[in-house]
Amino acid sequence: MAPTSNTHEAEAEKQFRKSKVTIVGSGNWGSVASKLIASNTLKSPSFDDEVRMWVYEETLPTGEKLTEVINRENENVKYLPGIKLGKNVVADPDLEHAVKDATMLVFVTPHQFMEGICKRLVGKIKSDVEAISLIKGMEVKMEGPCMISTLITDQLGVNCCVLMGANIANEIAVEKFSEATVGYRENKEIAERWVQLFRTPYFLVSSVQDVEGVELCGTLKNVVAIAAGFVDGLEMGNNTKAAIMRIGLREMRAFSKLMFSSVRDSTFFESCGVADLITTCLGGRNRKVAEAFARNGGKRSFDELEAELLQGQKLQGVSTAGEVYEVLSHRGWLELFPLFTTVHEISIGRLTPSAIVEYSEHTPNFSLVEGSAQYY
Ligand SMILES: NC(=O)c1ccc[n+]([C@@H]2O[C@H](COP(=O)([O-])OP(=O)(O)OC[C@H]3O[C@@H](n4cnc5c(N)ncnc54)[C@H](O)[C@@H]3O)[C@@H](O)[C@H]2O)c1
Repeated sequence: MAPTSNTHEAEAEKQFRKSKVTIVGSGNWGSVASKLIASNTLKSPSFDDEVRMWVYEETLPTGEKLTEVINRENENVKYLPGIKLGKNVVADPDLEHAVKDATMLVFVTPHQFMEGICKRLVGKIKSDVEAISLIKGMEVKMEGPCMISTLITDQLGVNCCVLMGANIANEIAVEKFSEATVGYRENKEIAERWVQLFRTPYFLVSSVQDVEGVELCGTLKNVVAIAAGFVDGLEMGNNTKAAIMRIGLREMRAFSKLMFSSVRDSTFFESCGVADLITTCLGGRNRKVAEAFARNGGKRSFDELEAELLQGQKLQGVSTAGEVYEVLSHRGWLELFPLFTTVHEISIGRLTPSAIVEYSEHTPNFSLVEGSAQYY
């Protein structure tokens, strides 16, 4: 049947409809993402200028609400002090209200809150919305691990890309050059739309057709960063840290490929792979707290050190190590992944921090999983 003029008009209207962006999350990286996005929506007529940012409401020590201060000062004084976000960023404490008109949703909260957030969003978003996750982490369920992009797709029925990379938020906030990788499933055009939304002269973004590979890189490197922090806390030097990073990268690749055979080797050479691993092991918050843990001989818990050193920001690597451990033990793969396994056992106090370098006794046992040697 030939299209009627009405369908032509509807199609034309859809083409001309400006994309409306909402960011779900407003921590350190969420605030930097809002700054990047807000600078681009003003430049391109295909985006609505306004960028809505859902804020998990907090009362500041001054007694004021965080959203009121963000909207007045144009600055997230708690999670990104000193940086203007853009006047077109609107902080909104009401999740349903923040997402209701959005056609592009950016998810950027600590991963442990995502399941609850998705439940609250069911039936509350537009049916043709596109999503992207900047979240590093996974949910472990009875059936096995669930990546956050899959959680979003399964619970909300929307397509979900991912964006990961060597992106310590505070450095991008002051416009230091860096790169990132968008992972997409099928539709390259949608991936390019996300690239257009995030890319600036100091933040270069490229896309690869490998959602799982990109997302697993971003998630698993936090476990390696905990190991790197132990090495720093024990003052073992650069050679040891480089060895830990290499072993960690090898386990990241093996784990990713055993979980999803579609994962590409080339993804590990993108910003989301080796570059993110390096920056996180040199500078990130996981490394910092793990260093303090090792300096204290494992006597102060990660929870206590997180509260003391991160002021409300969340540590990802320790919970991810626990989730990875659960997957490995469920599948009988613990002996294939000595570094991932040891990080978890140190963080729960079963081993001392120095166990992180006792590798001669912990070489991977390939015979346990048929075909696994090819991934090492
Ligand atoms: N910060 C970085 O450098 C960086 C870089 C790349 C990726 N990431 C990833 O981005 C994601 C978000 O991290 P971030 O740095 O923006 O956050 P953050 O750790 O700086 O801040 C924590 C956020 O969680 C919110 N929060 C606290 N309790 C909550 C609850 N019950 N429900 C919902 N939200 C709650 C807080 O309001 C705050 O916005 C994480 O997955 C992280 O791994 C962070």
